[in-house]
Amino acid sequence: DWTNSSIIDEQVARIREQVGDKKVICGLSGGVDSAVAAALVHKAVGDQLTCVFVDHGLLRQDERKQVEEDYVSSIGVRLVTVDARETFLGALDGVTDPESKRKIIGREFIRTFEQAAADLVAEAAEGDGAPIEFLVQGTLYPDVVESGGGAGTANIKSHHNVGGLPEDMTFELVEPLRALFKDEVRAIGRELGVPEVIVSRQPFPGPGLGIRIIGAVNEERLDILRRADAIAREELSTAGLDGEIWQCPVVLLADVRSVGVQGDGRTYGHPIVLRPVSSEDAMTADWTRVPYDTLSKISNRITNEVDEINRVVLDITSKPPGTIEWE
Ligand code: XMP
Repeated sequence: DWTNSSIIDEQVARIREQVGDKKVICGLSGGVDSAVAAALVHKAVGDQLTCVFVDHGLLRQDERKQVEEDYVSSIGVRLVTVDARETFLGALDGVTDPESKRKIIGREFIRTFEQAAADLVAEAAEGDGAPIEFLVQGTLYPDVVESGGGAGTANIKSHHNVGGLPEDMTFELVEPLRALFKDEVRAIGRELGVPEVIVSRQPFPGPGLGIRIIGAVNEERLDILRRADAIAREELSTAGLDGEIWQCPVVLLADVRSVGVQGDGRTYGHPIVLRPVSSEDAMTADWTRVPYDTLSKISNRITNEVDEINRVVLDITSKPPGTIEWE
């Protein structure tokens, strides 16, 4: 498609002009946006790019594997994985306010990239190489708008890679997707040979499960949410709904408990929310009319297989007035 190739050519030229012969790092999240941004930069400057995958402990099941195996083998980028679980979870300890969570996660991402960049320089030049100045991000147009970056727009949420960045960051950003919407990014990704499992993935926010636990984030709660999320995703896929559903956040109401009965016993567990939405660009959305049988299957499986959850609820709010994510 000539429009996609011309966008690619234009961005490749711009990236080359911006970074020259300098080294660049790119944070990969496992999602579509960062994968496509990295593929573009790789096309532009090849081995000057190193990708960094941060395991912040807020990932879903199998996310790390998908990046480490599928992506690297098809694009051929150099990848460094950083285990930053302790740092992120430590920084989030006891934090419940959504914007605070977003800012902490945004800050910790940058601090992790800075450390990774310093380590790479030290390795490559035995300590006396020039610092890595450029950071690639897969920021899209809607991220910019909703973080209050467009003229006359309100700050709805600080996306981790826009309004959530720390003020003392020294990286210069390379953001080749900043003018694009998700469907355009997917088309470009296909053209660049990004594997279909990644290109067609439903969006997943950079702050990950950290903003899908309403209340403080900890290992135990993450584990509950991860198991419920995996069941919901599996059943929605099995029902053939992946094309119709833009994304389906699964949200743990960690500070809420309700009474239930399972077997002969009383339970006092947590509710979990299913938030399936249909959308064109995430700026507006409607709740997806998932067939009752599929909802029933998901509810039965989650309450049977995840002991801590005794109630499954369905979010039937469009955007606006609700946003897609709960935080
Ligand atoms: P909301 O909740 O604002 O979400 O309706 C719109 C879309 O953006 C995703 N989202 C994010 N993506 N970093 C990201 O990379 C973020 O901080 C972030 N917050 C929300 C959300 O999943 C939905 O697709």
